[in-house]
Amino acid sequence: MTDLLTIAGLRTVFRTHGGEIAAVDGVDLSVPRGRTLGIVGESGCGKSVLSLSVMRLVAHPGRVATGSVTLDGRDLLKLSNADMRDVRGSQVAMIFQEPMTSLNPVHTVGFQITEAMRAHDTHASKAELKNRAIEALKRVRIPAPERRFDEYPHQLSGGMRQRVMIAMALACSPKLLIADEPTTALDVTVQAQILDLLRDLQQETGMSIILITHDLGVVAEMADDVAVMYAGRVVERGAAGAVFADPMHPYTLGLLGSVPRLDEERETLLAIEGSVPPPFALPKGCRFHPRCPFAVDACKSEQPPLRMLADGHQAACIRAPVEAFVA
Ligand SMILES: Nc1ncnc2c1ncn2[C@@H]1O[C@H](COP(=O)(O)OP(=O)(O)O)[C@@H](O)[C@H]1O
Ligand SMILES: [Mg+2]
Repeated sequence: MTDLLTIAGLRTVFRTHGGEIAAVDGVDLSVPRGRTLGIVGESGCGKSVLSLSVMRLVAHPGRVATGSVTLDGRDLLKLSNADMRDVRGSQVAMIFQEPMTSLNPVHTVGFQITEAMRAHDTHASKAELKNRAIEALKRVRIPAPERRFDEYPHQLSGGMRQRVMIAMALACSPKLLIADEPTTALDVTVQAQILDLLRDLQQETGMSIILITHDLGVVAEMADDVAVMYAGRVVERGAAGAVFADPMHPYTLGLLGSVPRLDEERETLLAIEGSVPPPFALPKGCRFHPRCPFAVDACKSEQPPLRMLADGHQAACIRAPVEAFVA
C-alpha cells in the first residue's frame, strides 16, 4: 500500500518574547491511501499546529522551520502560494471543531457551498452549481436539502452545520481530509452519526483521513493507524489495534487510563497527573518524564527517539515496552 502523505522531520516554530519555541518538533508520519490516521494527545500537544502546517495555514508569528510534507510525490512546503491554494480544497481539505470555523452567519448555506465550488470551477453556471450543492448536501445525508440550501447557519443544529462543513470540504473531491476535533462540540449521539458519515464517505471516495482528537474512543472506532503526540513530538505510532491492545509508551498507557499506582498494592486506574508542558518550558530529557511513573535517572538526560519495538509499532521511551512493569 503506498502512502498518500508523508511528513518528515517537521518542525513548526513561533516567535515569542522569550525567543523561538517549537510547537511541533521533529514529527515523522505517513498516511496510506484510503486509510485513517488518528492523532491523539492532550490539549496543547501540537496536534492543531501539525495539521495547519500540512495545510500551510500556520499564521504569523508561526512558520514551518524544517521538514517536508509530501503529497503524491510533491513537497507541499515547496509549492508557490498560488499552487498551494490549488492544492487546498482540490487535494487536501480540512474541517474543524464547529465553533472555531463556523459558517458565515450572514450567508445562506447554499451560497457558501456554491462559492466554495465556484472557486474551483469558474465556468459552471449558477443553476449547475445549485444542483451540485444540493447533491453535496444529499451526500452528507442532510434531509430536505432543497430547503436547507436557502437556510442560514443559525437555522441548523450543530450536527447539521458540521455536515455542511463536510459537504464543503468534499465539494472538490480531496484525496486527504484533515478533521481536527470534528465532533468535540457535539453531543454523543450526533458525534456517532458524524463519525459514521465520515466512514461512509471514505468508503465511497477512497480518500485518506487524518482524524485529530483528544478522545481515544473516537480513534479506536475510526482509525487504522494511530500516532500519539506529546509536547510537540510523536511518542508512539502503530496500527490502531496494536496500540490499543499493547500500548508501549507510558503516556499512551496513561491516556488509556491504565497506569498503575506504584505506591499502592493494588492496581488502581488513574488519569495521568499534571499537564502537558508548554513549548517554552520543556523539561530536559524525555518530555514526559516529570509525569511518568516509570521514569528513571536516564530519562532526565536524553530525549528518546522512536524505536521500532514490534512490527510497525514504535515508541519513544527507553523503558518501553512498559507493559513489562504493569503486569
Ligand atoms: N500563535 C501561537 N503562538 C505561540 N504559541 C502557539 C501558537 N499557536 C499554538 N501555540 C502553542 O503550540 C502548542 C501546541 O498547540 P496546538 O497545536 O493548538 O495543540 P493541540 O491542538 O494539541 O491542543 C501549545 O503549547 C500552544 O500554546
Ligand atoms: Mg487542537
